[in-house]
Amino acid sequence: MRLDKYLVECGVGSRSEIKQILLKKLIRVNGKITISSKEHVDEFKDEIYFMEKKMEYKEFRYYIMNKPSGYITATEDKKEKTVMEILPEWVVKKDLSPVGRLDKDTEGLLLFTNDGKLSHELLSPKKHVEKIYEVHLENEISNESIEKLESGVIILDGYLTKPAKVEKISDLVINLVISEGKFHQVKEMLKAVNNKVIYLKRIKFGNLELNGLKIGEVIEINKENINIK
Ligand code: URA
Repeated sequence: MRLDKYLVECGVGSRSEIKQILLKKLIRVNGKITISSKEHVDEFKDEIYFMEKKMEYKEFRYYIMNKPSGYITATEDKKEKTVMEILPEWVVKKDLSPVGRLDKDTEGLLLFTNDGKLSHELLSPKKHVEKIYEVHLENEISNESIEKLESGVIILDGYLTKPAKVEKISDLVINLVISEGKFHQVKEMLKAVNNKVIYLKRIKFGNLELNGLKIGEVIEINKENINIK
């Protein structure tokens, strides 16, 4: 692949930035300084350094964010602030998008990847990937409501939700386990049992957990860490 393409995919910068970096003689390929963006490199064999940093080529990248409230889950928007805008500088943004969506006021686990196939699988209704939400409620939850949530409730235009699992944490807090992702699903499910969500956080997506990741923090993970089932 061309050296400039390689460097873009390693997150060094845009093509025009890379042109400048090359002219400043900051790139070495197998020990030799190169200034040509057109040079061809073998991404798996060649040793490529940007200043003192050895480049590591990965076709697909995976990141987990603990999403803060106040940002919409979109790659761009004219009016609202998006989750893309709060990805740290070191994240390689090329072709990256969030997997699924969390509402603007929802916090918690959001996966980002440029691996379209995996993203599709994780979102496919056929895969039944479990999501766990910590749900804070306006009104105390009754046993009757828990039973209804666990057997399925009617939301939106008459859609009957699949049976969910409810873990009661306190009278006003539950963990809700669902394996579907309808629009505003958790809020709609709680509305269907005459309650209201006042705070929502996704704490688990498939096998992925926040593991102490602070609000707004992002970590890179490997594909091997993601189990669909
Ligand atoms: N369900 C909701 O209602 N909102 C979210 O952000 C995620 C699931």
